[in-house]
Amino acid sequence: MLDRSSIEAALRGVIDPELGADIVELGMVKGIRMDGGDVTIDIALTIAACPMRDQIESDVVRKVTAMPGVDRVEVRIAAMNQEERSRLMDRARHRARENAASTQVSPLTRVIAVSSGKGGVGKSSLSVNLAAAIADQGFSVGLLDADIWGFSVPRMLGITEVRLQAGEDRRIVPVEVDGVHVVSTGLIVEDEQTALMWRGLMLSKALEQFLSDVAWPATLDYLVIDMPPGTGDIQMALARLLPQAELVVVTTPQLAAQKVAARVADMARRSHMPVVGVVENMSGFTTDEGRHYTLFGAGGGQALADDLGVPLIGQIPLDPLVVEGGDEGHPVVRAHPGAPAATAIAETAKRLTELVPPAADETCTSRIAILAEQLAHLG
Ligand SMILES: Nc1ncnc2c1ncn2[C@@H]1O[C@H](COP(=O)(O)OP(=O)(O)O)[C@@H](O)[C@H]1O
Ligand SMILES: [Mg+2]
Repeated sequence: MLDRSSIEAALRGVIDPELGADIVELGMVKGIRMDGGDVTIDIALTIAACPMRDQIESDVVRKVTAMPGVDRVEVRIAAMNQEERSRLMDRARHRARENAASTQVSPLTRVIAVSSGKGGVGKSSLSVNLAAAIADQGFSVGLLDADIWGFSVPRMLGITEVRLQAGEDRRIVPVEVDGVHVVSTGLIVEDEQTALMWRGLMLSKALEQFLSDVAWPATLDYLVIDMPPGTGDIQMALARLLPQAELVVVTTPQLAAQKVAARVADMARRSHMPVVGVVENMSGFTTDEGRHYTLFGAGGGQALADDLGVPLIGQIPLDPLVVEGGDEGHPVVRAHPGAPAATAIAETAKRLTELVPPAADETCTSRIAILAEQLAHLG
């Protein structure tokens, strides 16, 4: 199950923040060794003492540790020689050209795809509320509704009048609500006719458009994606288009979640997207008198997290205010910040931004100098 190529695929999700390409493509991964669940990875940086080093190192550890079957990850860092550096610059320039043509999402943006094996578990409610909670932490946040036909984000955020418009460079400008930059087919589809046109479009193509034709703010710290249910085309397209994407898996507390778990784990493996953690939604109900009822069973979230070998990062109780917030277009974390579900979601968002910290914005000046020198040499 755990092999070199799957580790390499996971490492393709580690983006060098300065060069905007993944570390495998850049030739920075020099060796992968496995000994049972112990993995040793050799990384070559352009120069050894770079401030970016910490981020690359911790991203490598995070991505590989998240893989099933991995117990411990050791990263060994070395410096590149002259020849390796020129090769790296070639690849970085190639990637810069490709990026300009494909996605408008900055390689510095952390991408969190909220997924589950099935519908109705609360992906959209969580996506909307997590995005709002992350924005409330002071980060700049985008929210992409990738549920192309089953969109619910606009309604949940109360966007009823505004529609997406093209900006100066003819790219679509996300609609901003309370500090969250939103894109959804629900903000395009006006009538039956347009809806039919979208229906004819391949799902993966629609996602590609959302990534390439939208003027996402360059300073976006996080992009939260509300995924359609299941494990199909969109998931695979996401992994291809945004290699830095990571999954948050939503489940309900029923222990019978095993089948769903297997499907999500399989998709994560096939698409090489690491799972950051599991969120258990609709975890019981507490009355005003403090009586707790486990309406939909208990333990499913922890069981799924154990299965996937990732942390359980939140348990969100059943709370009628979540439904009300969704129906009225005011996410519960904003409308009722003291409600049980709201505090649980805010804590989950906090854990999420700790597990997936925003990309460092300091640049490595000495390293840039070296790269500039390289560029001058290469002409
Ligand atoms: N914690 C919760 N407590 C109560 N109702 C919830 C909770 N989470 C979601 N819901 C409700 O469950 C229904 C399905 O949620 P939704 O977010 O649309 O799921 P999905 O996107 O996975 O299909 C919605 O009516 C929503 O308001
Ligand atoms: Mg949904």
